[in-house]
Amino acid sequence: MRFDLITASPGIFEGWRSHSILARGQAAGHLQIEVHDLRDYTHDRYRQIDDYPYGGGAGMVLKVEPLAEALDAVRGMAPEEPEVVLLTPQGEPFVQATARELSALPRLVLVCGRYEGVDERVREHLVTREISIGDYVLTGGEVPAMAVVDAVARLVRGVLGDDASPEEESFSEPLLEYPQYTRPAEFHGWRVPAELLSGHHERVRLWRRMERLRRTLARRPELLRRASVSEEDRRLLARIV
Ligand code: ADE
Repeated sequence: MRFDLITASPGIFEGWRSHSILARGQAAGHLQIEVHDLRDYTHDRYRQIDDYPYGGGAGMVLKVEPLAEALDAVRGMAPEEPEVVLLTPQGEPFVQATARELSALPRLVLVCGRYEGVDERVREHLVTREISIGDYVLTGGEVPAMAVVDAVARLVRGVLGDDASPEEESFSEPLLEYPQYTRPAEFHGWRVPAELLSGHHERVRLWRRMERLRRTLARRPELLRRASVSEEDRRLLARIV
């Protein structure tokens, strides 16, 4: 899958792009992540990408022309017609289902906005979708773009390797994960639950299911309403409450 990021701060992505799972995914040919400097699509000596808002007021507004030109150029860099996403607090909430949907596409272009504002014509005519990573305001769309690429890329076949299945964890089924432990079995008197040391597959399975339900009920009860709760889950829940 190919990702193109358009930003006024390309340096932010350098270390991120060349590290860990994303770097391996690129080296193995599963992912391609390209970063484009918005200022390369300006034509004045100041390489100006923002300007004062019509009607007055504080802050600067990201201009429409450099973005239009950047999007034209970036579109032409690969044959597939991309989804073009603007990262903005005004967008649709980004959830696991959004990541799953986007991971099925061959190509995604991400436009990093600025908190002060983006010319409305970008929204109306240049992007196909607007996404927010949460109800808080960041200084720009760069961190949100990293979050979206990370969540989408790990769902692309091959990126996590053959044995790991991204669909096994939290939010593919809308329950929180069970607690995990590794050696030692005791540290400062803090013990690993006996069920996990039992070597008994069925006990481990039931304990994990129970803990998922318990944790979800305690922390995110609204998720339980969306989960498909089995007869066994009902019995486990009854033991919790
Ligand atoms: N830009 C600034 N804040 C943002 C957010 N919460 N989500 C997406 N883009 C943003």
